[in-house]
Amino acid sequence: MDDSNAAEVSVMERNDVNGTGPGVTVCIANQKGGVGKTTTAVSLAAGLALLGARVLVIDLDPQGNASTGLGCRVEEGDPSTYGVLVDGDAVADAVRPTEVDGLWLLPSSLDLAGAEVELVPAFSREMRLRRALEPVVAHYDIILIDCPPSLGLLTINALVAADQVLVPIQCEYYALEGLSQLMRTVELVSDNLNRELELGGVVLTMFDGRTNLAQQVVDEVRAYFGARAYQTVIPRTVRLSEAPSFGQPITTFDPSSRGARSYQRLAREVAERLALPVSHDEMSALDRLLGDKQQANAAEQVQPEQNVAVRLVDGADDTPVVDPPEQEVRP
Ligand SMILES: Nc1ncnc2c1ncn2[C@@H]1O[C@H](COP(=O)(O)OP(=O)(O)OP(=O)(O)O)[C@@H](O)[C@H]1O
Ligand SMILES: [Mg+2]
Repeated sequence: MDDSNAAEVSVMERNDVNGTGPGVTVCIANQKGGVGKTTTAVSLAAGLALLGARVLVIDLDPQGNASTGLGCRVEEGDPSTYGVLVDGDAVADAVRPTEVDGLWLLPSSLDLAGAEVELVPAFSREMRLRRALEPVVAHYDIILIDCPPSLGLLTINALVAADQVLVPIQCEYYALEGLSQLMRTVELVSDNLNRELELGGVVLTMFDGRTNLAQQVVDEVRAYFGARAYQTVIPRTVRLSEAPSFGQPITTFDPSSRGARSYQRLAREVAERLALPVSHDEMSALDRLLGDKQQANAAEQVQPEQNVAVRLVDGADDTPVVDPPEQEVRP
């Protein structure tokens, strides 16, 4: 049986009793900006969809990066997270399909920035997203919520709606700074608003094997979080930074890249940890996709990625990012 059949069967199996799936909700949070929350939300979601899971991404950031990263343009007045949170619109009416099979999106728009203020006097303002999701949560195997870089009301709504928090940590200096504040917030929410909430795991992002610093951060995070840290470490690669501007997740944009393979590996780890009913076939759907892509590329005579030596400036975000020679990153 190939992957697609396995995926179809698992979808049927989990829907055959009462039409519901497990519906695990995971919020991807870190109040630090630019640590890879959105990249992880989009790429992990696409990876899980490739394994056969039914995935919903909720863009809860007014920047709307997850929406554009999944190729979605939101016009004024379009249904979005703002309408769901502030006007009580139905999630089902605001969800859109994406170009990835099995992956849906609840997009965000700039007006979401006002929601933090508009919701202040609202009744049960922290429960808005949770209540809105209740009717649809069983339609998906997993819901991933991409949070903004703050611990404001939007992130609190995500934490209240979630079963688990996934924390991306960038492999750079100050990586652990602010984490205790995030952990305290998670604890407060689980004590007062959502008893189910737990730390689902941390994922190390933008690892650059050429710096000692990156390895030190990996060691420190592993020492601190133990088994909560996912084995898969996401490398810093050019292709991952390019994919959003093409409105495609990395698994579609460049399925053979190290970034795609790493996120696919992370998807398998997440699916295993959450016991999602997916296909764990090593020859994943990513390889099938890769086959299709190679045929398309052959027609276009696309040049492969070039490996160029670069200077590294510690911590500088505008450092040119260049993939080292293709290799597995297993620190
Ligand atoms: N592994 C990676 N390799 C190279 N670039 C990356 C990687 N992960 C993310 N980036 C890039 O780094 C920038 C920040 O990533 P991303 O938007 O995912 O972070 P974020 O935590 O969602 O940011 P924000 O806090 O602003 O929402 C983006 O330009 C993204 O394309
Ligand atoms: Mg983001």
